[in-house]
Amino acid sequence: MARQVSRCGPGAGHAAPLAVTTCRDTTVRAWHLARTPRGRPEPEDFVCHSIPLEPPAPGEAWLEPHWLSVDPYMRTRMQPAGYDYLTRWRPGDALSAWGLARVVASRGPWREGDWVVGHMPVAERCRLGPSESPQLPPLVLPAATPFPERWLHARGMTGFTAWLAMRLYGRPRAGETVLVSAGAGAVGSLAIQWAQRAGARVVATAGDSARRDWLTERLGVAAALDHHDSDIASRLAEVAPEGIDLSIENVGAGVFEAAIDALVPGGRVVLCGLVGQYNSPEPRRSPRNLSRLTAVGGHLQPFVVPGHESAHWARFQQDMAQWDAVVAPLDVVDGFDDWPRAFCGLFGDGGARGVGKRVVRLR
Ligand SMILES: NC(=O)c1ccc[n+]([C@@H]2O[C@H](COP(=O)([O-])OP(=O)(O)OC[C@H]3O[C@@H](n4cnc5c(N)ncnc54)[C@H](OP(=O)(O)O)[C@@H]3O)[C@@H](O)[C@H]2O)c1
Repeated sequence: MARQVSRCGPGAGHAAPLAVTTCRDTTVRAWHLARTPRGRPEPEDFVCHSIPLEPPAPGEAWLEPHWLSVDPYMRTRMQPAGYDYLTRWRPGDALSAWGLARVVASRGPWREGDWVVGHMPVAERCRLGPSESPQLPPLVLPAATPFPERWLHARGMTGFTAWLAMRLYGRPRAGETVLVSAGAGAVGSLAIQWAQRAGARVVATAGDSARRDWLTERLGVAAALDHHDSDIASRLAEVAPEGIDLSIENVGAGVFEAAIDALVPGGRVVLCGLVGQYNSPEPRRSPRNLSRLTAVGGHLQPFVVPGHESAHWARFQQDMAQWDAVVAPLDVVDGFDDWPRAFCGLFGDGGARGVGKRVVRLR
């Protein structure tokens, strides 16, 4: 039976269309969207199907993912509207994710044992074809690359997001006060460190006390606030009485409004994401005080990663190659079967959540 199978390779998860593959020889398990989540996603919103997989054709390879990412943006791909820069996932669609996979059979330019990094199906095994993405060809790392897991986070897509937020757009300066919301997460924790490297004073937010302790004790932020605090604006005024020069917005809702209220004249807001709103009926709701930006001459810079790869990926990699001391922990969930649970846990399902980048280890 012919089924839809995602094409491997960076870009496939963001914008590239899914390729249809008719397969005969073997089957692999792959996670699909079972139904559109209502509110916070639940594991029952996902279903695992066995799908056929053809042997690699000339120019192709078989990959076995060892690691697959879970990311908040995936929730936006399940929204019924908006977020048009991404291919929307409808019930029945195969899922894809940033991942790190081994080449296990090759009839193309890849060697068996090499690592391949990029967007790939959330499947136990997949095919890699000649790249159709002119912006970011698949990244191939030799089999002996030490710690290839770095490409899951600091040198991968979340690292690139933080780099764009800080090095391209936010450009923190020495002596500035920078607010980073969702600071204990993947993008936020790297954004904090970019600001600190520039000599800025950083205030960050996280949703529980253990994560706030990590922010102060491990990352050394000046203050860590609770982004669920209903009076976050007052807490922010206490720890940043002179105001905020730059805000990296990852959460939305009350934090976003507090940041705008605290912005100094000419201050900057880099809008990276609104994860606190993704499960709400109005995920793209604007802050009520947006017009204050006009009053203080503030700058709002929204951005999404897709479209930045060809111009900036190489520079990002050069920067990261020289940054050995970056703190970039992985929050590891074990087992392909637990991919949905790992994803749902991004949105605070009550389960324990580590700091940094959440990833699923398959092997
Ligand atoms: N612009 C782009 O192209 C781009 C690319 C990647 C990511 N992003 C955005 O960047 C942001 C951070 O992503 P990430 O990859 O760092 O994800 P992440 O590691 O999961 O971090 C996100 C954090 O958001 C917090 N959070 C989750 N649900 C929340 C809720 N309902 N209310 C408030 N906080 C909540 C959690 O922190 P606590 O547990 O501490 O509450 C979580 O650690 C997201 O908004 C994401 O969409 C944008």
